[in-house]
Amino acid sequence: MKVLVATEKPFAPVAVKGIKDILDPVGYEMALLEKYTEKAQLLEAVADVDALIIRSDKIDGEVMDAAPNLKIIVRAGAGYDNVDLAAATARHIVVMNTPGQNANAVAELVIGLLIYACRNKFNGTSGTELMGKKLGLLAFGAVAQNLARIAHGMGMDISSYSPLNRPQKIIDAGFHVHESLHDLFAFNNIVSLHLPSTPETRRSIGYDLISVMRKDAILVNSARQDVIDEEGLIKAMTERPDLRYVTDLKLADHDRAVELLGDRYIFTPKKMGAQTKEANINAGLAAAQQIVEFIEDGVKKFQVNK
Ligand code: 3PG
Repeated sequence: MKVLVATEKPFAPVAVKGIKDILDPVGYEMALLEKYTEKAQLLEAVADVDALIIRSDKIDGEVMDAAPNLKIIVRAGAGYDNVDLAAATARHIVVMNTPGQNANAVAELVIGLLIYACRNKFNGTSGTELMGKKLGLLAFGAVAQNLARIAHGMGMDISSYSPLNRPQKIIDAGFHVHESLHDLFAFNNIVSLHLPSTPETRRSIGYDLISVMRKDAILVNSARQDVIDEEGLIKAMTERPDLRYVTDLKLADHDRAVELLGDRYIFTPKKMGAQTKEANINAGLAAAQQIVEFIEDGVKKFQVNK
């Protein structure tokens, strides 16, 4: 069996070693393709592989066709919108994710970004604190739950809205449940997005919601770039010079946003949420383990295509 770790954005070396240490004892070969710049490199590298470990790497039907032995793709992470699930199913390829494994890393980054924003990018002027501020979480999956835990410890007032209308986890955690998206946006000082990218969520956060945010509010996005309706965001923030957008996912029209929003648009140069040694180890090793369990015993836990 040959397993390719194909990561345009590489794992920490210790995670790559950990993957190899799981594959070696069962006699699987590990290949590594990191920091590739052309799709052609990926197409060449998958030619003889049985399994694939990826991050946000885009895997479409063309990549699958270039890998005739491919049986399983594991997205080492949560969101799998970068994999064409229908194409995988049509080719009898199992796709899995590793839910929750990098969630704390993303949650910690959100706190870091918020402190950076609230302290005016450490420019020496007087900023604001997070303690006592209202933090609204849009969805309550693994990242939001970790963020709630940390933010609660910092004295923030947590609430959430569950778009899938499954608020029980929020209630069990002891946080206020909003009845609508509108309420979530209108009530909180900070709204943090934790939506996957799906046909329903794409461009779902736009003018109507952003324009009702409280004075001096912050919208923070560690989820996906395409859940934002960029025109709506720019329009709302142009009308409301008090609002800020803080993100780990640069907008599609990044240069225009920099030009129009100036320093109210705060972004990481590269998506950094899951980029910690710990998250790489958690997600990478889980991916390797899931591949071995699938190949050896047919275990399909965490399969996301049917
Ligand atoms: C995820 O969906 O797990 C996160 O967005 C992390 O993505 P990354 O592995 O590309 O950093």
